[in-house]
Amino acid sequence: MKLLVLGAAGQIGHELCRRVWPADYRIAGVDRAEVDITRQEAVADALRQERPDIVINAAAYTAVDRAESEPDVAWAVNAAGPGHLAVRPPVFRWSTSRPITCSTAAKKRPIARMIR
Ligand SMILES: NC(=O)c1ccc[n+]([C@@H]2O[C@H](COP(=O)([O-])OP(=O)(O)OC[C@H]3O[C@@H](n4cnc5c(N)ncnc54)[C@H](OP(=O)(O)O)[C@@H]3O)[C@@H](O)[C@H]2O)c1
Repeated sequence: MKLLVLGAAGQIGHELCRRVWPADYRIAGVDRAEVDITRQEAVADALRQERPDIVINAAAYTAVDRAESEPDVAWAVNAAGPGHLAVRPPVFRWSTSRPITCSTAAKKRPIARMIR
């Protein structure tokens, strides 16, 4: 089982990459310099290259105080970006799984429980 973590340099992404996964899991983490989630083609290239079974998007615009003065950036990262994960290259084996994206702190279920 291969996991691709986007936003791997952030707090959540880093934790996901460093945690101990079951032996048959392989983790690939990419930061913004490797994959900018606002660039659809960059996201598609990463999916084609890594061919993950599961994608966890931890890339986010988290500068809440600046979001109103930078609405375009906030939208590109937090809304359009996750949308790019829905455009799946045909090589991707996502018949049953779905991309997971981290959102607000008001999640009801921890990520680790969701992907077990
Ligand atoms: N931390 C928590 O306790 C917590 C709890 C619940 C939910 N969440 C949610 O989880 C998500 C991530 O939170 P976090 O605390 O890990 O935030 P964070 O530490 O600010 O990390 C966000 C990461 O996203 C990257 N990023 C920003 N724009 C990007 C882009 N265009 N393409 C690719 N990567 C980009 C940032 O890269 P740069 O460093 O280059 O800017 C950073 O590494 C957020 O939606 C947050 O609301 C967090």
